[in-house]
Amino acid sequence: METFENNMETFNKLESEVRSYVRNFPAVFKTAKGSKLYDEQGNEYIDFFAGAGTLNYGHNNPVVSEALIEYLKKDGLVHGLDMATTAKREFMEKFNDTILEPRHMEYKFQFCGPTGTDAVETALKLARMVKGRSNIIAFTNAFHGMTMGSMSATANEFYREEAFTNRANVTFVPFDGYFGPDIDTAGYLRQLLEDKSSGLDLPAAMILETVQAEGGVNVASKKWLKEIEKLCREYGILLIVDDIQVGNGRTGSFFSFEEAGISPDIITLSKSIGGGLPLSLLLMKSELDRWKPGQHSGTFRGNNLAFIAASNLLSYWEDDELSREICKKEQLLRDRLMDISREYDSLETDVRGRGLIYGLQIPDQGFCGDVSAEAFSQGLVIELSGADSDVVKFLPPLVIEEEILEEGLDIVEEAIYTVYNRKESINQILNHDQLFDQKESINQELDQKDTINQKLDQRESINQVLNQKESINQMLNSK
Ligand SMILES: Cc1ncc(COP(=O)(O)O)c(C=O)c1O
Repeated sequence: METFENNMETFNKLESEVRSYVRNFPAVFKTAKGSKLYDEQGNEYIDFFAGAGTLNYGHNNPVVSEALIEYLKKDGLVHGLDMATTAKREFMEKFNDTILEPRHMEYKFQFCGPTGTDAVETALKLARMVKGRSNIIAFTNAFHGMTMGSMSATANEFYREEAFTNRANVTFVPFDGYFGPDIDTAGYLRQLLEDKSSGLDLPAAMILETVQAEGGVNVASKKWLKEIEKLCREYGILLIVDDIQVGNGRTGSFFSFEEAGISPDIITLSKSIGGGLPLSLLLMKSELDRWKPGQHSGTFRGNNLAFIAASNLLSYWEDDELSREICKKEQLLRDRLMDISREYDSLETDVRGRGLIYGLQIPDQGFCGDVSAEAFSQGLVIELSGADSDVVKFLPPLVIEEEILEEGLDIVEEAIYTVYNRKESINQILNHDQLFDQKESINQELDQKDTINQKLDQRESINQVLNQKESINQMLNSK
């Protein structure tokens, strides 16, 4: 098949209808560096999407590419199932030294299949096995993956409805803030657990994201997270924190739950841990490690190239420079979004987030999609989240330069301005059309009235003629 630069035909013809991002960002990307992507024609795009949280350290971070080239040149082992390899040992040691020990955390590693959902599947299986109970508590708007077990704990019906399979053994309860700020959803959950007649089966585990990224950038408060942890301890339930999207520094600290001071029993990590290469793992408290050898298996457990990338990227966490940088950029991002929110008061926006994940909610249906499309046409890749796709999700690489962050935000602002004004003029035209329609129907009513009046007049003249005839008849009769 003949191909032309930036031609989408091959994708449209040969790839399944299930393809998604390619529809929102219709370009054929060829190269990428740092916070920028380039298509086949050399057009440049700022990346506020970062592979849905996989590129926290940017595209082709030299720390990764140079180490990988070096490793491959030396015939470093690429595939090794779960055998002992130098790359895996280095990763575990470095992670332990750089991340776990300084935080006084003691966890064992389990490497699973290469993608995030594999870690979630494994965590749910382990929790059920250890507790000997089947129920799991998940939260409204949660997203944990697309395979059967993780999908059962994913709330959005769009992903679930066509699966036609048994997705039982998960009970969804409201996330923090689900009913607004005044309703204590942890208190509600406590009541369900306390009440022997609530109908809730005692779960093996609760699984949660501290910031629901796909679910609309919903941020759990520290207080709520602490209360959930307390409930887990009181009722002998395991706490699983799914840090696949908002771990790896996304919220400013390596783990997203550090600020809340909680200690999950199981942590799932994937996405950015391998710097763009597939790697997925569980951290579990050692008393939970009840697996029999080989009881949970898989061909791609631990990707050695990703271990090399991950070990090198952990250098970012040897001091607090990255955290401080994230904090500074968060301020910038938040201030700009708050300015936008104030400027477009009538759109009833909401700004929320932590670190370098922020959401700008615009309830007007379709508005966010138009903003994302408009931004793309101006050279920015930015995606949406939330069940109604009504949240523009800001997820730039953590290492983005401040000028590029500003440039991307200028594009968003411009895109909102364009979409807002476009909608306003459409509304004016619609209003104009409405007035026109009203005038038309009044005219029709008036026309009808004229016809009725004419008919009444006709009736009057007929009556007059009939009266005349009547008097003539009377006259004739009297003669
Ligand atoms: C919180 C969370 N968990 C699990 C997953 C699933 O990861 P993957 O798509 O790599 O299977 C995702 C993906 O977006 C996620 O955001």
